[in-house]
Amino acid sequence: QVISTEELKKAVGYKAVDDHIRSGMVVGLGTGSTAYYAVERLGQKIKKGEIVDIVAIPTSTKTEHQAKTWDIPLVTLDTHPSLDVAIDGADEVDDQLNLVKGRGGALLREKMVEVEAKKLVIIVDESKLVKGLGITGAMPVEVTPFCWKRTMRRLLEVEAFQGCQVSAKIREDKDTVYLTDNHNYIIDLFFQKPIPDISLAARQLIEIVGVVEHGLFLNMADICIVSGMNGIRVVEK
Ligand code: A5P
Repeated sequence: QVISTEELKKAVGYKAVDDHIRSGMVVGLGTGSTAYYAVERLGQKIKKGEIVDIVAIPTSTKTEHQAKTWDIPLVTLDTHPSLDVAIDGADEVDDQLNLVKGRGGALLREKMVEVEAKKLVIIVDESKLVKGLGITGAMPVEVTPFCWKRTMRRLLEVEAFQGCQVSAKIREDKDTVYLTDNHNYIIDLFFQKPIPDISLAARQLIEIVGVVEHGLFLNMADICIVSGMNGIRVVEK
């Protein structure tokens, strides 16, 4: 029996909510096509009265809209600075549960919310699992629009990327530059080889003036729920 990618995403989204969200919690809601199913499941359970007294913090305007359609009560980090759990997808996951995130553009809010979560649950299908971070697609960097070409030059000079054959592209949306929810731009970095020292890369990226945040989420995930053709497995840190 062939299982569609949508079914794989739905399976992990639903399981994350069933296993990790209980009444009374403050919950972080991720962004993307997999996190979509976690929001859907949470909405269904609240509607049925199976989960009560929940408040949630969305990581994008898109997720905020979806949560509102389910009447999930929303708050912000300003009033609720500590979360019991956050659930989100990822673009790449290595065997230490380090992540690349942000191909959907929500990396800044995702990181702000998810660093405050006591438990970060990542939900992916097995196509996201990698040996080394950086080669299945873009590694997004959110930058301030002011003189972004200069920031792009600085990104290409990052010492930790030398030897990976790095290239960079400003993200576009139809005929215009893509704007994040925070009115910033995204520069997508591409590598021919995995980034050898991801901790060094993360430090050097955030030191560049003009970089707002980057898509390396290191030492943040506690649990990864992975679905594949042979079923679901849970990887814990
Ligand atoms: C959003 O900016 C991203 O970090 C997403 O969490 C990530 O792209 C995973 O999305 P999918 O579940 O749609 O692959």
